[in-house]
Amino acid sequence: MSELAIIEDGGILFEDGVIIAVGPSAEVALLVREEDEVNDATGGVVTPGLVDAHTHFIFASNRASEFEMRCAGATYQEIAAAGGGILNSVAATRAATESELLEESQTHADWLRAHGTTTAEVKSGYGLSLESELKMLRVARQIKGIDVIPTFLGAHSISPEFRDNPAGYLDLILTKILPAVVAENLAEYCDIFVEDRYFRAEDARVLLTRAQELGLGVRMHVDQLANSGGATLAASLQADTADHLEHTDQAGIEALAQTWATEDSRISGTFPVLLPGSVYALGHSRYPDARAMIAAGLPVVLATDFNPGSSPSPSLQFAMSLACTQMKMSPAEALVACTANAAYSLNRGHDRGTLESGKRADIVIWDVADYREIAYWNKNSAWKVI
Ligand code: NIG
Ligand code: FE
Repeated sequence: MSELAIIEDGGILFEDGVIIAVGPSAEVALLVREEDEVNDATGGVVTPGLVDAHTHFIFASNRASEFEMRCAGATYQEIAAAGGGILNSVAATRAATESELLEESQTHADWLRAHGTTTAEVKSGYGLSLESELKMLRVARQIKGIDVIPTFLGAHSISPEFRDNPAGYLDLILTKILPAVVAENLAEYCDIFVEDRYFRAEDARVLLTRAQELGLGVRMHVDQLANSGGATLAASLQADTADHLEHTDQAGIEALAQTWATEDSRISGTFPVLLPGSVYALGHSRYPDARAMIAAGLPVVLATDFNPGSSPSPSLQFAMSLACTQMKMSPAEALVACTANAAYSLNRGHDRGTLESGKRADIVIWDVADYREIAYWNKNSAWKVI
């Protein structure tokens, strides 16, 4: 993760959205025809388009009023216990028509792209009913300007209609919502929020095993607010990713590392997906232990967790800045974490995440002279996104 392949004075030739050649400018220039369009990146830095492997950018309205409550001392958990939090966004998202939700969500996607993101995973989970979960995932399919990889997160919170009957809601997911999502081919992954007051390890086992049987990959929200052994659970379920991990201990890190303990490089283990923007925005001080994870050989992924509650930032540059300043990752590690590693965590390593011939021409030109400045300046340095 700490070794970048940097080409000084480089050039890239691409056609029909696919890279044909990468190398020193002088060599690539020999392949350029007169009619080709030229993007002049002189003085800048060129990287692969960033890959955001964990977002909730499909939502209606916002939670600025809860932000103000947290500024006055209320905690995320207290707000949720009083009926706000995720359920606040559920009410707004349910109330929006599909076209209203698309319009708001397209704006959020435009923000992601403006900050250098060309691929974003996005989760449902502000519907929590058959109709509204499908509405969110249909909106995901219509987003333009970035490539969207959809995840079904019906198990984001207990649906308000099932407040006193959480088992009934899990049953609805298993028997109605998940099968409908699969029948319409609306998601590639299934996710669940494992935390006190949300879903239990046992729920995750039942739901995610079923999702895997139906051909979906598995991502999980674990160990965000407390250590519940979520990383170990994710490893035991052969999840594709274990996300958050703020409270994961060394035993959890070792369980994740075990999933990679094979000589066969074609086999992927469970990727740790770290979301420092949510730690920051909740005003918490405990960041995931990225250094211990990297020391254990884990391919760390960085993502924004962009959502209206715990992480109102669409900027992977900001996530990289926090990774460097708060988690002591190097600028090179931070860049790899939200390009190559993020792409592999979404089963897209073969066609994006690095600049190589044959891969998608997802490219960012940054108005900085050195890649380290992408995480260093606290500003948007994306100059042109292709
Ligand atoms: O990843 N932890 C659960 N889900 C989101 C928060 C969603 C919300 O507050 O709306 C997260 O932090
Ligand atoms: Fe999240």
